[in-house]
Amino acid sequence: MMRERRIRVFAPATIANLGAGFDVLGIAIDQPGDVVVAERRAEPGLFFCVRTRHPDVPTAADKNVAAYVATLMLEEFHPPFGVKLTLEKRMPISSGLGSSAASSVAAVVAVNALLPGPIHRKDLLRFAMEGERKASGSAHADNAAPSLLGGACLVRRYDPLDVISIPTKQSIVWAVVHPHISIRTEDARNILPKAITLQTAVRQWGNISGLTVGLASGDAALVGRCVEDAVAEPVRGNLIPAFHEVKEAALRAGANGCSISGSGPSMFAVTSSIRMAHRVARAMKSVFAVSAGIDSDIYVSRINRTGADISWVKST
Ligand code: HSE
Repeated sequence: MMRERRIRVFAPATIANLGAGFDVLGIAIDQPGDVVVAERRAEPGLFFCVRTRHPDVPTAADKNVAAYVATLMLEEFHPPFGVKLTLEKRMPISSGLGSSAASSVAAVVAVNALLPGPIHRKDLLRFAMEGERKASGSAHADNAAPSLLGGACLVRRYDPLDVISIPTKQSIVWAVVHPHISIRTEDARNILPKAITLQTAVRQWGNISGLTVGLASGDAALVGRCVEDAVAEPVRGNLIPAFHEVKEAALRAGANGCSISGSGPSMFAVTSSIRMAHRVARAMKSVFAVSAGIDSDIYVSRINRTGADISWVKST
């Protein structure tokens, strides 16, 4: 008889790009995140359901990234059982917080834990990246890697994939504000410049190098100075109502730096204390409300070093 086994996995939200590091840098934060519960079932294949309060989340298995990546794994590993996968979709989609990555990561970690011979966590990244390809047309790893592995991740190279975990100090506190509008990653990618000048590239790679040093040394002032983005922010900022005012408010309230989280509309700010992060986030939220008439959610977090977390396993 097949042994029963149920796994619950939480996968955290992420701040991708960190301003200058388009497609190559990302960090995990504590909240929000998505949850997947997976269990073995006798019938082969995937049985999928979604619980959510967000009406625009795709619930059909062929439209949802969690079901998609789970199916890819089942097709590759052919376990002698089927899987029932329940996605508790807590994160809003098209938020700039790595919502699709969190769903994909939670699903691959849960399915992997059910397999007779689970693979290494880092090797799950390629499946999660396929979820990103399905969601946005591009298999970027700067959300999926930190959601899976925790901490700060540098995607040094895509082909072949080389993801490096940056050692971090916990002195930086991140203020994240999610305004209640949605921007599809695919749309935000389509407006990016196809080429940049050497001068812009020099500015960008100076900042990316500074970001890695600042993350490793926990230097909020350095990280704040380096979140400056000369490539995506100038065009993506136009998609976010009151973007410049919100950024200015963050800096005026004491943030060391501020930019777009992932492809937006969420914005993040770099600070050096929990208290300062709350003050900055409140200032940003207030400008979204007053200047753009948009309500928003606030998240304050240090870097989440755990990444996807198997919160319980039940076997009988
Ligand atoms: N690096 C990706 C982008 C992240 O900026 O398009 C999407 O969340």
